[in-house]
Amino acid sequence: MRRARFLLWLDVTLLLIFAFLEEPVTTGLWGHEWISIGFAGLLFLHLLVNWRWIAAALGRYRLAARRARANTWLNGALYVTMVFTIFSGLVVSRFVLPTLGMVPSTLRAWAQLHTIVASVTPLALTTSHHIPAIMA
Ligand code: HEM
Repeated sequence: MRRARFLLWLDVTLLLIFAFLEEPVTTGLWGHEWISIGFAGLLFLHLLVNWRWIAAALGRYRLAARRARANTWLNGALYVTMVFTIFSGLVVSRFVLPTLGMVPSTLRAWAQLHTIVASVTPLALTTSHHIPAIMA
């Protein structure tokens, strides 16, 4: 029960932070960058605490029903879009990278990639959590 409550709060927190990250104007760019570093940490924790579920889903993939397979692909898509969003954000970062003594890329394509994947991620989030239920 305590674990279920912790998982629920972790997911609600991630969802709320994500909503703010989707609108950088609400936090300013400095806040956007540092909050997303915290978000990445919580996302890693989310993967760690759900690791047994993830490993089980991957392990039974070949024998799973169509709906469960679709679920695995959608969760994978969500993971990939999150990783690309955070990575591309780091590459163009104007505050976090310089703090670490690194120079951000001035290539416009990285900023464009960040905007595109950040827009696709909510779609991946919604489908990965609703399509399996619709298909049930
Ligand atoms: C899940 C995490 C993230 C989401 C959902 C997200 C989302 C967004 C969105 C929607 C924009 C606005 C794009 C626009 O208006 O053109 C943006 C811009 C930006 N983000 Fe993120 N972001 C995330 C992570 C990060 C990270 C980790 C960093 C760096 C540490 C970062 C740095 C930036 C920067 C520098 C911009 C301005 C880019 C430009 O020059 O146009 N973001 N982000």
